[in-house]
Order: sequence, then C-alpha cells, then structure tokens
Amino acid sequence: MASEDDYTAEPFLPEDPEKATLTALRRAAAGCQGCPLYRDATQTVFGAGKATAHVMLVGEQPGDQEDRQGRPFVGPAGKLLDRALAEAGIDPDDTYVTNAVKHFKFTQAEPKKRRIHKAPSLREMTACAPWLAAELALVEPELIVVLGATAGKALLGSSFKVTQVRGTVLEEEIHGRPERLVPTVHPSSVLRADDREAAFQGLVSDLKVAARVLA
Ligand code: URA
Repeated sequence: MASEDDYTAEPFLPEDPEKATLTALRRAAAGCQGCPLYRDATQTVFGAGKATAHVMLVGEQPGDQEDRQGRPFVGPAGKLLDRALAEAGIDPDDTYVTNAVKHFKFTQAEPKKRRIHKAPSLREMTACAPWLAAELALVEPELIVVLGATAGKALLGSSFKVTQVRGTVLEEEIHGRPERLVPTVHPSSVLRADDREAAFQGLVSDLKVAARVLA
C-alpha cells in the first residue's frame, strides 16, 4: 500500500466513470483498494437506489450491519432515517442513499468482540471521494441531503459545521457541478441524544426543508 498521501480510489474506477452505469460503478467499487480500509471490512458498501432519484442522501460510512449486508443504512440508524423520511414526506423510492466512505472503519478489542465504529480520516475521505463524485455525476440529483459532519466535510470542506447550516438550502459547486444541498444531523446522533424525541423532530424538520425543495 502506498503512503497515506497517495491513498486514492482513482485507479479502481471505470475508465470513463461519467459514462458508466451504477451497476458498473458498484462492480468496480467492490474491488477498491484505494486506502487500507478494505483490508478489515467485509465488503465495499456502495450506494443504493435508482439512477433517476431526485434526492441523494449522503452519510458517513457503513456501520456494522451495513458491512455485513453490503447495503447502506440498513442498521439502526437507517431504520430511524426511514421513519424520519416518511414523516417528512420524502418518498424512499425517489432517494439514492450512499456514504462519503464506502468501507466500514472500526476498532475491535479482540476477535469476536463488538466492532466499534471509528470516524474516517480526512485522507480516507479524500481517497474515497471519486466514488461519490461518480455517483453524483450519474444520478444528477435535484438535491443532496447531507447527513452529519463527515458527509458535510467530504462534500463542502473541512470547515463545515452542521450546527451552523442544518435545515438550510445551500447552493455550492461540488466536484465541478452546481448542487443544491440541505445539511442535517446524522441519524446516529439522534440515537445517542438524551432527548431522542426532540432530536428526531429536529431531523424531521430539516428533512421537511428538503421535501419543500423537491415539491
Ligand atoms: N451510518 C452511515 O453513515 N451510513 C450507513 O450506511 C450506516 C450508518
């Protein structure tokens, strides 16, 4: 493996990613070794949903369940997100769901012990960015919902602060394209909140902003 400065998914992408299909991208991403996270993860967890979706939801990285099942947001955070989307009136069939980083990063005290999520480094996020750029180029969503700080930093830069911009509509150039984004908190933070109901309603209220953009 190259030095940390050289981590990149670039050589693993299809030759002309913008002309590829999501299926071809997913297949190529399954073999990605652009940073060391592939070594301990079970598999690449690529985005899921239709290429015609109007809204793309971007999370941080797959969790334990996602790593085992190979699909994003199928664990507890995903279930909470599904409920919040339903309450906000966003049709799940009109969403494409993905993550800034496509492999699960974790620590584990001993084999067979629980795997504890570890936040990806900036280098790992940067290495993985070509996959997200290719997904954006293919799906061309009308709106990106940014789920939490890591996704925000991956898309909008390291000074991103979710508390400052959540529930607002941003217009920014992302990977050379004008995009509309609504940032909100990561659904896992709702699961950890002292007042879960208030945190859940905060997430729903931000998603309603997204729903209004899409209407
Ligand atoms: N958290 C994320 O950010 N993404 C997932 O896919 C699951 C949990």
